[in-house]
Amino acid sequence: MKALVPTGDPAEPVKVAEVADPRPRDGEALVRVEAFSINRGETFLLERPKPGHRPGKDVAGRVVRPAADGTRPGVGARVVGHPMGGGWAEFVAVPADALAVPPDTVSAVQGAALPLAGLTSLRLLRVAGPVLGRRVLLTGASGGVGHYVTELAANAGAHLTAVTRGRERAEGLVRLGASEIIHDVSDAGGTFDIVLESTGGTALPLALARLARRGTLIWFGQASRTPAGLAGTRRDRRRVPRRNGRALRPRHNEDRAGLHDRGRRPRRRRMDLHGTHRPRRYL
Ligand SMILES: NC(=O)c1ccc[n+]([C@@H]2O[C@H](COP(=O)([O-])OP(=O)(O)OC[C@H]3O[C@@H](n4cnc5c(N)ncnc54)[C@H](OP(=O)(O)O)[C@@H]3O)[C@@H](O)[C@H]2O)c1
Repeated sequence: MKALVPTGDPAEPVKVAEVADPRPRDGEALVRVEAFSINRGETFLLERPKPGHRPGKDVAGRVVRPAADGTRPGVGARVVGHPMGGGWAEFVAVPADALAVPPDTVSAVQGAALPLAGLTSLRLLRVAGPVLGRRVLLTGASGGVGHYVTELAANAGAHLTAVTRGRERAEGLVRLGASEIIHDVSDAGGTFDIVLESTGGTALPLALARLARRGTLIWFGQASRTPAGLAGTRRDRRRVPRRNGRALRPRHNEDRAGLHDRGRRPRRRRMDLHGTHRPRRYL
């Protein structure tokens, strides 16, 4: 079958190649891919691809061979899937519990845009807690996760301030219910009960400084590729956890944000800054 495989060449990060057909394990269905989507994290992995790496975590298509253990969905079902990889291809093996049957009104292209960004948004808001009447600050709002968070939070009654670099990138967010659009975190007025930060760099300390007392900040990405520092302002420095006098900084591993742990519920109102999963009290 044909698949997109990494080249390691920044000018042409993937190319079409002939690869072996997937061999589904027990509990995995074989899906004919009709559409797939591309996540920012996946594009980062293309820069230094590991040998044999096959990208593709978000797909939509039809089941051509159901899971051998009999788990549905059955043959011919329209599905949206979230495999661990290999989805940028004609066929992919997907664990049956990572498949969902979408409503007929959702096209394959729309469905393929759902899994990683949609699940991340849902989990962010579950971790953040009820948003009704609360002030939410969202960076990277024009991205995939940002659009879903905006729509879900606004519909749940949040007053959401969306940060986008450009004006034109904000138009859809207003339609989805964002209360306010700004183009720099430093323009955010007042304090926020919930801060959802995914661009890194200076945005993280600036956003942290706007967190209300007993508020929740979740840092879940670094789209800017600039390391996020926390020891910026005097106020920030008081909030930064220290060990033996040294400030503990976030690791750049997105899984550490606790959003990728299928099935395990991340701790609420706590931020894991250095990967030990011990609750921090400084928030
Ligand atoms: N922890 C997890 O489990 C998890 C899961 C999914 C995604 N993520 C991470 O969350 C972030 C958002 O994911 P996504 O799928 O929504 O990505 P995306 O669609 O690429 O959106 C990222 C947004 O960040 C903004 N941005 C701000 N400064 C930027 C810069 N210097 N360079 C590039 N973009 C910049 C861009 O919006 P403007 O240009 O309009 O500002 C862009 O729309 C990514 O870092 C991703 O890796 C984490």
